[in-house]
Amino acid sequence: MANSEYEYVKREFEFDRRLPPSNWIVVRIDGCHFHRFSKIHAFEKPNDENALRLMNACATAMLEKFPDIVFAYGVSDEYSFVFREETEFYHRRESKILSLCVSYFTSMYVMKWKDFFPNKELKEPPYFDARAVCYPNLKTIRDYLAWRQVDCHINNQYNTCFWMLVKSGKGEQEAQLALKGTYSKDKNELLAQQFQINYDDEPAMFRKGSSVYRERVETKVKTDDYGNPIKRTQLKVTVAHVDIIGSDFWENHQHILREGKFRHEYVKKSDINRMLPPCNWIVVRINACQFDQFSRIHSFDKPNDETALRLMNASASMMMERYPDMVFCYGFSNEFSLILSSCSSYFTSLYMTKWKEVFPHKELMQPPCFEAEALCCPKLKILCEYLSWRQAECHSGNQYNTCFWMLVKSGKSEKEAHEILKGTLSKDKNELLFQQFQMNYNNEPAIFRKGSCIYRQKMKELAEVEGSENGTRREQWDVTVDHLDMGPEFWRRHPWITNSIHV
Ligand code: GTP
Ligand code: MG
Repeated sequence: MANSEYEYVKREFEFDRRLPPSNWIVVRIDGCHFHRFSKIHAFEKPNDENALRLMNACATAMLEKFPDIVFAYGVSDEYSFVFREETEFYHRRESKILSLCVSYFTSMYVMKWKDFFPNKELKEPPYFDARAVCYPNLKTIRDYLAWRQVDCHINNQYNTCFWMLVKSGKGEQEAQLALKGTYSKDKNELLAQQFQINYDDEPAMFRKGSSVYRERVETKVKTDDYGNPIKRTQLKVTVAHVDIIGSDFWENHQHILREGKFRHEYVKKSDINRMLPPCNWIVVRINACQFDQFSRIHSFDKPNDETALRLMNASASMMMERYPDMVFCYGFSNEFSLILSSCSSYFTSLYMTKWKEVFPHKELMQPPCFEAEALCCPKLKILCEYLSWRQAECHSGNQYNTCFWMLVKSGKSEKEAHEILKGTLSKDKNELLFQQFQMNYNNEPAIFRKGSCIYRQKMKELAEVEGSENGTRREQWDVTVDHLDMGPEFWRRHPWITNSIHV
């Protein structure tokens, strides 16, 4: 392919680890800034039943979507997803697993919000971070889950006391002081004596958290000739608020954490800390999953839907506004490269919350999902070549698609169109467009041909700061969307982008 001169950048610099085999993989997601998020949405304290049920509905959707998730445990703004020990989900590639989980969960959260809060508008895009931890044997995976449930108990008991004290008129500081150094049984006594509350009677969802798993249920499929019911056992995704610290639950549900065939005698270190190498440009490439289907369902124009592309650009611009460390974004089709660590959740959330604005007459029918990959570029030259490679891919993909859809629209079948284009070079395609359709490819919109670059631009060179005597001036930077060639000339004309100017 004509672009192969740049392709080495992906092959050699892609930062993608495979999680060790024969380990249960736990993906733990946690709401980002949920302290603020729960405040602005006026969640009840200390537990908002609807917010928790929304989290549970998202976790249920995860188990329904990803069969390799065997168990999930959630409390507050976090959820742990356990993948079966021998999973080959995306070949155990960490960035794929993390980004898909967090993006799908976020998508579900935004989509299902109105089911749980019909009278509350979503005021800002929720987003989550995620980490993966590997557990090599049954003991460590069960201890991990027990640890989360113990944490749930400790926090909930504390918070129940704290908010009862506050609701009874104590100041927050006073309540904290009253609870300092108390043990579990002291807190139970406090609740019983001061508020006539038996802690054990509090809702199990608050005390035990939520476990989501597949339960064997007997369902009547039909009746036989004599009217007797014929039953079949099926696995159904269930949410329960039960003890998972003791062994009863696990003995009754041995199918959940079934061990694989291979056992490692060597117990691997459970939490491998993975850091991106220092002094590297970090590229996070976000790519929509099953976008083919998604664009069909939402009847996006072929080969390019300008509004859909603008939605991607708007989401990326908002990402840059939020993250000062992000210096440049480039995107085409359904992908976006973002210079920062894992952002797929925030991107998903922005995409969904901006949807209504961009497509006022189109309902979002399916949760969008974006996967993310990280790439480390130790030299600026490599970073520029990476971006050139993406732009070269944009060019060849768009030129092909433009020809393909013109042929199809002119009456050819899809197969015929593929046949016609097989083996053609760039200039052949330009000629085909010109001769058969009187189209000059270079006059097609730049957003389709070049993709979209997003960067900060100094808008007002200098603005006087009010009241300053020595002429202190302020610069105003805005996030700009452009559709340009990212050759050497572009970088020469925009030196501040790669000088990492922090605005
Ligand atoms: P980061 O995760 O570091 O981004 O910060 P965070 O603000 O999300 O805090 P953290 O994850 O440590 O804790 C979750 C926070 O979410 C809690 O401290 C609560 O403020 C809030 N939260 C979670 N669930 C509920 C709820 O049911 N009701 C209310 N009122 N707040 C909740
Ligand atoms: Mg959080």
